[in-house]
Amino acid sequence: MRSRFVLVIALAGLFIAAVFAWSGLFNVAASSGHFKITAWFLHYVMRQSVKTHSIGIVPPDLDDPVLIRRGGAHFETACVYCHGSPLADSSPVARQMTPAPPRLRHTLDKWKSAELFWIVKHGIKYTGMPAWPAQDRDDEVWAVVAFLEVLSTMSAASYREIAFGTESERVAVPTDVPQSKGCARCHGQDGEGDDIEAFPRLDIQSERYLGAALQSYVQGRRQSGIMEAAVSGLTPADIEALARYYRAPAEYGQAKHQSAGDATLLKGQKIAREGIAEKQIPACNSCHKSEGNMPNFRPDFPRLAGQNKRFLIDQLHLFAAEKDRGGTAFAGLMAPFAHKLDNEDIDAVAAWYASLAASSN
Ligand code: HEC
Ligand code: HEC
Ligand code: HEC
Repeated sequence: MRSRFVLVIALAGLFIAAVFAWSGLFNVAASSGHFKITAWFLHYVMRQSVKTHSIGIVPPDLDDPVLIRRGGAHFETACVYCHGSPLADSSPVARQMTPAPPRLRHTLDKWKSAELFWIVKHGIKYTGMPAWPAQDRDDEVWAVVAFLEVLSTMSAASYREIAFGTESERVAVPTDVPQSKGCARCHGQDGEGDDIEAFPRLDIQSERYLGAALQSYVQGRRQSGIMEAAVSGLTPADIEALARYYRAPAEYGQAKHQSAGDATLLKGQKIAREGIAEKQIPACNSCHKSEGNMPNFRPDFPRLAGQNKRFLIDQLHLFAAEKDRGGTAFAGLMAPFAHKLDNEDIDAVAAWYASLAASSN
């Protein structure tokens, strides 16, 4: 008898809820905001959900200046519109969202690093807080977290340095492409990279490779939340202009021969020139012809000589991981052997290519 009574009450409740929804009386206007109690309840649900879902996530070393610079520069591209920064308020349009995106400086202390990681990677449903565009790039999400960890105590001057680079790098690039100003914040005025090697050099690459690499980000074939945000809105004509602007002064710059002094460099030199026979790893130089005044096997392959060591290491780890790094139409050529490189091989071969000075004559 009692259970039948409960059932009737429950059905009546559902019916009333359905009629209320059908009537259109519920006010979905963002302009009216939430009742205090609703806002509190929704935030409580969010906090508990983030807490539970971030159990077991272990942060890497977040004091790394390279991570902080990468994360901060991306924050300027993709987060300031909603959350503001030490230099700028959020957009008045974003402030009309319900819930309004918080000024993060004031709220960050409440969160552990693993929780911030979860929020930035997955976003928050029903709030407008977006998920990370490249779900396989946890390394990039950690870069943003490394930056958030220092944001609450950051002065406007240090924010400027982290988001825009040093003074010399902050000048707009003279192309007709509106976004090119953003490129210089990370890659330097002429694509020479930045002091702490947080970003790759562009000025050693051929126009063909630069164009193909940019296309692969635009089309989502190369996973990087940082670059996907930076290239959004570029037209094919913009890409051509940028590739022409940043290309190496001569199509194939000559790498100065460096005498391989220490053991690591010697090991790297050997991998580059001969590969590792017992692991069936081919000579890298057979495709990335980086020594002497030689063209690459194809002009749309990337040059490695003179590239930042940190970038080479990070990219080799992406190729070596099981997840697909993606890239241009030829990216599959790295897959058969990249996972056979161990950490020592990667460090050695990256050190070798980074030690080769890439010059144009
Ligand atoms: C389109 C607007 C929008 C963009 C872009 C955006 N966010 Fe958010 N974000 C929000 C909103 C809205 C919330 C509030 C969610 C809530 O209160 O439940 C939020 C919440 C957060 C929180 C939790 C803050 C707190 O204390 O509740 C963090 C951390 C955060 N965002 C970081 C970022 C980062 C980092 C980026 C850039 C990669 C970013 N957001 C981009 C709208 C945005
Ligand atoms: C917020 C910093 C940032 C901005 C802004 C940015 N980049 Fe990048 N760029 C990166 C990072 C980080 C990578 C490495 C991404 C990866 O892991 O695939 C990269 C990679 C690249 C590559 C591939 C390099 C290679 O050797 O494979 C090209 C080309 C490039 N960027 C061009 C540009 C251009 C052109 C712009 C302006 C429209 C731009 N970037 C804006 C950070 C940035
Ligand atoms: C069969 C040809 C081939 C061989 C051999 C080869 N690569 Fe590659 N490599 C490529 C191609 C093609 C790409 C461009 C991937 C893309 O489309 O983004 C690439 C990309 C790279 C990149 C990323 C560069 C950038 O600017 O983004 C690194 C680092 C790299 N290779 C290192 C190596 C190393 C180290 C070896 C030797 C162990 C090696 N490669 C051997 C063809 C090759």
